[in-house]
Amino acid sequence: MTIRTFQINLMFTSILFFLFISAQSLDNGLSSSPAMGWNSWNLYGCDINEEIIRNAAVAMKSNGLLKLGYEYINIDDCWQGDRDSNGYITANSTKFPNGMKTLADFIHSQGFKFGIYSSAGEYTCGGRPGSLGYEMQDAQIFASWGVDYLKYDNCYNDGLYFERFSAMQNALNATGRPMVYSLCEWGVLSPWEWAGVVGNSYRTTGDISDNWDAMVRVVDDSLYISKHAGPGHWNDLDMLEVGNGGMTVEEYKSHFAVWAVMKSPLLVGTDVSAMKQEIANILKAEEVIQVNRDPLGIAGDVIYRKGPIVILATILEGGSRAVVMWNRHSQDNGPESSFCDRKGVHCIDPPKQFHADVEITVEFTALGLQSNTNATVRDLYERSDLGEFQAKFTAKVPNHGVRILKVVPVTGEPLNLDWRPWLNYALI
Ligand code: GLA
Repeated sequence: MTIRTFQINLMFTSILFFLFISAQSLDNGLSSSPAMGWNSWNLYGCDINEEIIRNAAVAMKSNGLLKLGYEYINIDDCWQGDRDSNGYITANSTKFPNGMKTLADFIHSQGFKFGIYSSAGEYTCGGRPGSLGYEMQDAQIFASWGVDYLKYDNCYNDGLYFERFSAMQNALNATGRPMVYSLCEWGVLSPWEWAGVVGNSYRTTGDISDNWDAMVRVVDDSLYISKHAGPGHWNDLDMLEVGNGGMTVEEYKSHFAVWAVMKSPLLVGTDVSAMKQEIANILKAEEVIQVNRDPLGIAGDVIYRKGPIVILATILEGGSRAVVMWNRHSQDNGPESSFCDRKGVHCIDPPKQFHADVEITVEFTALGLQSNTNATVRDLYERSDLGEFQAKFTAKVPNHGVRILKVVPVTGEPLNLDWRPWLNYALI
């Protein structure tokens, strides 16, 4: 047998094994809408302790974020100490001197749910003890602490995916405690195709970082797969960078609106005790959050794309449409190079419009409505009604920014309630 044939056989066996295991399927009844909350990683990385987590919970509550639905306070990697003599994982006693149960009790007393992190390999990505071979014990101890959410990473995976993620799924089910199960395998094996019966969400890409290019890359790698998402199993575009300082306010507004319409979990990753007003306005944009939490749970996707102009949309309960008109013009897609001579010595200024606000039009037919439809349009960040429009809507969109709209058809029945253009997208 050649190595290639061996690899194919191994993969095939893995899939069969996975299908057998997953016949039990995740049935925890959780995450009917994408998870919302706070996570320590994007801002603090490994540099966490009990005080940081407690303060985050207090600030999430006093800032009104809990009330808006941000209900999970999640500790990411690097909370772990060693395993005890019976194999049970302990918390790092310097960073978490009172242990995880005490911290979980505090988080719960503030009205939140409590999330924790582990990895399906021997070690976590931060080099702490992973759960491989200890799935049952880890799930049990998490349940005994009162954990409500587990992010399960993929480092040191030895090339095995399905088995290891299913092993923790079974271990969680066996505890009898409902815990959101958030898979983090970075989109490597197209988890949108198989992880919907294993976990409540699954990362679609590698890690985000706090800059425009990284954020756009995450989105572009997550397009055309929305049809696989739905209540209880969501595409996870990674945690929010909103507020961490590496993007402009317009860019953060784009980040948040796109995450909302694509129905990604919304996990705040910044210091909410020291947020500027313009950042709070984004994270607290209630009508944008409502798009994410719409009861239909239909994940949006791209409906128009021409160069740097991208329009994403989804259908909401009752037949209205949520639309994100996104202006991605920037130096990368402007014509700068063609304005230099071949050696790049003599250049002229690029046309200003490539770095400026542009007008974007959304045709109502692109939203599955009849061409003569009249619809009211509401700007969801601005919280203002823009009026009634026929056939299309045009608005100026700031550079690197969005307009996120609710379009409510008022004439031109039928509403085409089954409108899901992304069902026709070829599988990726
Ligand atoms: C991986 C994950 C990140 C974070 C780190 C922690 O990189 O993708 O989200 O959890 O591990 O080590």
